[in-house]
Amino acid sequence: MTARIIGTGSAVPEQIVTNEDLSKIVETSDEWISSRSGIKERRVAKEETTTSLAILAGKRALENAGIASEEIEVIIVATCTPDYFFPNTACQVQEAIGAKHAVAFDLSAACSGFLFALSTVQAYIKGGIYQKALIIGAETMSKMIDWSDRSTCVLFGDGAGAAVVSAEETGVLELVQKSDGTGKGVLSCKARETRNLLNHESETKEYLYMEGQPVFKFAVKTVPKVIEKAVDKAGLKVEDIDLFVLHQANLRIIESVAKRLHQPMEKFPTNLEECGNISAASVPILLDNINKHGMICEGKKIVLAGFGAGLTWGATVLTW
Ligand code: ACO
Repeated sequence: MTARIIGTGSAVPEQIVTNEDLSKIVETSDEWISSRSGIKERRVAKEETTTSLAILAGKRALENAGIASEEIEVIIVATCTPDYFFPNTACQVQEAIGAKHAVAFDLSAACSGFLFALSTVQAYIKGGIYQKALIIGAETMSKMIDWSDRSTCVLFGDGAGAAVVSAEETGVLELVQKSDGTGKGVLSCKARETRNLLNHESETKEYLYMEGQPVFKFAVKTVPKVIEKAVDKAGLKVEDIDLFVLHQANLRIIESVAKRLHQPMEKFPTNLEECGNISAASVPILLDNINKHGMICEGKKIVLAGFGAGLTWGATVLTW
């Protein structure tokens, strides 16, 4: 048995923020943002939260899969922007959707989070522990951003994507997961410091910090390699893959990966133009977009690939 995605769903905030809007709050322009990243606009949460977006995306995935919430045995929410330290987001989803038989927990692997959640479910299924799972990538990156820092505030957005996963004969063929903790200096967001009865001092700036160029180089170097490794393990060639669903950080990264794999850009769907980088939510939202647009049908070979803070990265090869 293997993990098979049998339904997808997504949810994004109502409020659209365009590059033009951002040029009114920091020194930037639509020309700079679109030419450097491909991003034209993003959704930013006003009323919505990581939890509310996760719940909505989860409900939509269940509806798409045509299964009842009581059938779900495990819920994993991949997020680096939870609303609470505890309870975890997944427990709040469990309560809201009535998945009363599910064990629920969050997973933190930044932009690779959804892939790592799928890998965890794959291990549960291979081990015969659970048969039905709901995995969600949900983020409100906007609350981690320093909105006066033009080098990061133009890149990110908010939203959630979800998938219902079932133990079946076909589905995930192979996966590769990687981590390198030595890369923590180029991409981070500090949590609350030790502030207690012994230590009142704190100078923490709890904002996302990124050195764009090293992250860019890391992505274009590691993503093609990890894809080739996963595809090779699956006994396939990159030419056999119908679609590559990559983490949506930068159009130039996606173009570079396509070039290095000698594959046409038509095989690389994107939504970063309208969504920006939504960390763990970007792969499942894109997967839902292409699913709902009828771009995938049974038997198609798909690669999901993510990379991000940690550093973490990975690729999963599956048959739809
Ligand atoms: N508007 C106008 N100018 C800007 C802006 C802006 N928004 N941001 C930076 N600049 C300026 C810089 O100050 C710099 O000016 P200078 O030459 O006078 O010093 C110039 O533009 C060039 O800046 P670079 O940082 O060199 O620009 P670069 O071409 O590298 O593009 C970018 C920056 C888009 C961030 C790119 O490096 C990138 O996409 N990196 C990867 C990011 C990524 O993939 N993150 C994914 C992981 S996220 C996660 O895990 C949470």
